Amino acid sequence: MRKNIVAGNWKMNNDLPETEMLISDLIKQNQTSDAEVMIAPTFTNLWQAFESLRQEGIEVIAQNMHFAENGAYTGEVSASMLKSIGIKTVILGHSERRAYFNETDESLAKKVDAALENDMRVIFCFGEELADRKSGNEEAVVESQIKNALFHLGADAFKSIVLAYEPVWAIGTGETATPEQAQDMHAFIRKTLADKYGNDVADEVSILYGGSVKPNNAKEIFSKQDVDGGLIGGASLKAEDFFAIVNAF
Ligand code: 13P
Repeated sequence: MRKNIVAGNWKMNNDLPETEMLISDLIKQNQTSDAEVMIAPTFTNLWQAFESLRQEGIEVIAQNMHFAENGAYTGEVSASMLKSIGIKTVILGHSERRAYFNETDESLAKKVDAALENDMRVIFCFGEELADRKSGNEEAVVESQIKNALFHLGADAFKSIVLAYEPVWAIGTGETATPEQAQDMHAFIRKTLADKYGNDVADEVSILYGGSVKPNNAKEIFSKQDVDGGLIGGASLKAEDFFAIVNAF
């Protein structure tokens, strides 16, 4: 059975005291749920967050990493560094990384390889821009993002991969994809995987939706057959809203 997952992507928000406050609010709200719960604080606060949430069943994950193991890459962080502080999952390919930091399908393929070689789990993000959707190209764009970064992998690798469909036009805009738009795209993504790797692999991969998921729309989005959870930006910065979304399952 594939897993339900709700992951909070804090992006570049919350310094150390703010992180400690939000984590203490999360601990107060925490209860058993039908979803795996994760948060992705910024690099400087990963260790603190990991230590504080050790016993809580909330996984602390990273927002990015470099593909090299170590070396002359000023300002970068490697998979083994993340692993050495207990981090086992990394978000790769977020549209903000693609847009502002020139991440490409090729560099992302290398990052995915490095994460998997280090036995880490990857939440791989992709999604079309507004112009792509307006011109009816959304499926072609999503298909090429998935193929270019992931289709060199063997079927077994997909045990360690979670997909996150995040239409760029829905991120931080308050404009969310309708549950039907999300379901249609998620079904297309699953079919794309099935065509290459077979139904057994495709049916086991969790596919998350991201883009203005809020307490008032999460239930309907998560009720769709091929939507296995969410990657949450803004609403993950308030413990009450985040857990309202978690509890939408
Ligand atoms: P918002 O929930 O703020 O739209 O952000 C979504 C996102 O980018 C999660 O990675």
